[in-house]
Amino acid sequence: MQAPRPRIDTRRHLLRAGAAAAVVGAWAGASQGATRTRPIVIQFSHVVSAETAKGRAALHFKALAEERTGGRVRVEVYPDSTLYKDREELEALQMGAVQMLAPSLSKLSALGIGDFEVFDLPFLFRDQAAFRAVVDGELGTRMLQRLAPLGLQGLAYWDNGFKVFTANRPIQGPADVRGLRVRVQASRTLVEQMRILGAQVSVSPLANVYESLRTGQLDGQENVPSNIHSQRLHEAQSHLCVTRHGYLAYAVLTHRRFWERLPDDIRAHLQSALRDATRFANQIAEAENHQALARIVASGRVTVFTPPPKQLRRWREALAPVDAATRAWIDPQLAAAFRRAGGAVP
Ligand code: LMR
Repeated sequence: MQAPRPRIDTRRHLLRAGAAAAVVGAWAGASQGATRTRPIVIQFSHVVSAETAKGRAALHFKALAEERTGGRVRVEVYPDSTLYKDREELEALQMGAVQMLAPSLSKLSALGIGDFEVFDLPFLFRDQAAFRAVVDGELGTRMLQRLAPLGLQGLAYWDNGFKVFTANRPIQGPADVRGLRVRVQASRTLVEQMRILGAQVSVSPLANVYESLRTGQLDGQENVPSNIHSQRLHEAQSHLCVTRHGYLAYAVLTHRRFWERLPDDIRAHLQSALRDATRFANQIAEAENHQALARIVASGRVTVFTPPPKQLRRWREALAPVDAATRAWIDPQLAAAFRRAGGAVP
């Protein structure tokens, strides 16, 4: 069952968490002894609706984890930014105030690893299978290993899918983005991508996007159809262009010390629950986005345009300068390796 949706004063919560973080080692160690009497609690915070692939996968993980550990672990899932918004959730995890997150890969560069924005380079992956091959291979493993010195443990990659553009005016080719005020996630690469298209860029948490679009502070944004539909962004937009220009996916993260200090059998059960939840997330992600797009079309609120190959080429050409513009924080060799492995049309 999904946890209730408390509106938590996150500042106060983080301050309290600061104190908790100071004792995280003792607490995590103590948890080994505590398992017989009270369950180990995993607070799993995320920022999207419980009905999205990520939301459903988090609940699936909860069900499997609780069942396989015979109730020795309790997983509390907090969807839709009810516990923390984008940036706060990473701080909370580092402090030990929550134990699991699944932030988008774009947001990990806020931890000081600019290379994570390699995932934001436009037209990088040919399809979902190409994305999986990359993250399940050496490149994906190496990226997760880079989180260890920050006290974080990367446990898995969860798919979402390809992003599209929406706006409050017709949008078919890259020139239509010029002058629009658009929202992106906190990624310099996404900011650069929008600047190259001539947009005015605004970085904001997902939780604020609907209101900014509704009140006209923003004209447009990019996201996957399942987020657009579940956050009701299409209700504040008139046009959608199926560009599939970037890929949105997640890293499932935990606090390293918490993870290492779990009893071995519990950790093994959680790993197996996560393996199955990952398979589940990746199986449903593409279908969820198809269904969301169909619902957006059926709502009759938005004109949906799917660019023909010639038009798509224009998008690719317009966004080609992003690789060069992001060299200061994405290692060009890493970008080249991702481009080769991603197999996108050159
Ligand atoms: C966004 O902020 O648009 C996405 O990262 C949200 C998500 O987690 O899918």
